[in-house]
Amino acid sequence: MSESQINLYYKNVTAEIIGSEHGITDAQLKTLAKKTSPLISRLNKERKVGKTPYRDLPHNMETIQKVKELTAKLKDQCENLVVLGIGGSALGNIALQTAINPYMHNLDDSQRHGPRLFVFDNIDPSQLASFLDWAGDKLDKTIFNVISKSGETAETAAQFLIIRRMLKDALGPKALKNHIVATTDPKQGTLRKIVNENQLPTLEVPDGVGGRFSVLSDVGLFSAAMCGIDIDSLLEGARDMDERVSTEDFYKNPAAINAAINYHFYNTGKRISVMMPYSFPLKDLADWYRQLWAESLGKAYALDGSEVHIGPTPVKALGTTDQHSQVQLYREGPNDKLFTFLQANNFDKDIKIGPAPDCAPELGFLVGKDLSALLNSEKMATEYALLQNKRPCLTVIFPQVNAYTVGQFIYLYEVTTSFAGALFGINPYDQPAVELGKDATFALMGKAGFEKLARQIKPLTALDGDFLV
Ligand code: PA5
Repeated sequence: MSESQINLYYKNVTAEIIGSEHGITDAQLKTLAKKTSPLISRLNKERKVGKTPYRDLPHNMETIQKVKELTAKLKDQCENLVVLGIGGSALGNIALQTAINPYMHNLDDSQRHGPRLFVFDNIDPSQLASFLDWAGDKLDKTIFNVISKSGETAETAAQFLIIRRMLKDALGPKALKNHIVATTDPKQGTLRKIVNENQLPTLEVPDGVGGRFSVLSDVGLFSAAMCGIDIDSLLEGARDMDERVSTEDFYKNPAAINAAINYHFYNTGKRISVMMPYSFPLKDLADWYRQLWAESLGKAYALDGSEVHIGPTPVKALGTTDQHSQVQLYREGPNDKLFTFLQANNFDKDIKIGPAPDCAPELGFLVGKDLSALLNSEKMATEYALLQNKRPCLTVIFPQVNAYTVGQFIYLYEVTTSFAGALFGINPYDQPAVELGKDATFALMGKAGFEKLARQIKPLTALDGDFLV
């Protein structure tokens, strides 16, 4: 075990710790190993014939070079970087920033390693209006990275059209190419057309890589590099994890074991998967995981066409915050959850707790201790409390949270998702159920071609006063 490797600790899901009614017995683990082992070579083969292009992203030196060149060109003129995108085109960017850059990055110039970063991942008018009010007189030093594979996603398109108007009004039409970087499909789509017409600087959403698997491509790397994140280390971490998750020995493959454990608990009635970082910087990686897990594994049909309606429900929680919000339920409510803690063994900075006033000697147990010791004790305490109620607990241990370990984590969970998809017998790379809502939005907003759907939606969306209390 190298000191810079993240590790998955799984003893606390076993029958030895939480009993055989809820925990995994040795025999069950052997069965899981037998079922999962052939999938390791299957996934490795599929990867070799190009069926999972996301697997090769950390090895693509051309991409890294291109991102670095564009970053070097733009960084000095940029005080504010705004990512316009949603879902897989935003969550990874947010997660990298929260995980690797300091908490006060946007507010304290001395803690910034690049422009301030804003990612809305939404279209709330009050949120965007507040930003635009602030940014209005800073546009000359602001770059907007619009990210959309198709360019037709209503949220991203709307954000883009608002920004485009604002830039044109303030700086003139010629300024667009100095203030917009478009990350989109290399050949086709609405955004590609706009790029070509306006000669915008451009990056690519690689072919065959879905949004939620794209953070290690131009999609996530550009904003990360601009904001001073060491993308070489990030990708090195992912490459090192690639080696570990490709190993055909089930017991040495953290993604295979992680997926098998998740699969086991789903099938034995623990259908909720709670990810609970005990590290504030990791909190948005839990959000990124939530999309990855939900969109990839929540499926109506298996690969053989049978109707299955399968999929664990991912929930994010944060230690210690949610100890004071969720743990009552987690311990005494239904035993229907698998917990995955994220733990950091070391912190880039630590703080000693100050002396207690004379009138409060009962606070003496805290005095002089590191804040990290309190945080990690609370993780252990919560895990211990859950184990007393026979709740299975996994932990991903980070020696420290940095670009290298975050790269490992991202790759670990992407490949875990591929294994889980294979175990559930579904396609983890599509998201057919997202389409109807997108089409219904088009219909409600009057897009040509969606008139029939608009007529179908109306009776369901018009409020019926008899049911309004
Ligand atoms: O993971 C996914 O595929 C989705 O979340 C997409 O990233 C999201 O819907 C945005 O799509 P697009 O990049 O086409 O704008």
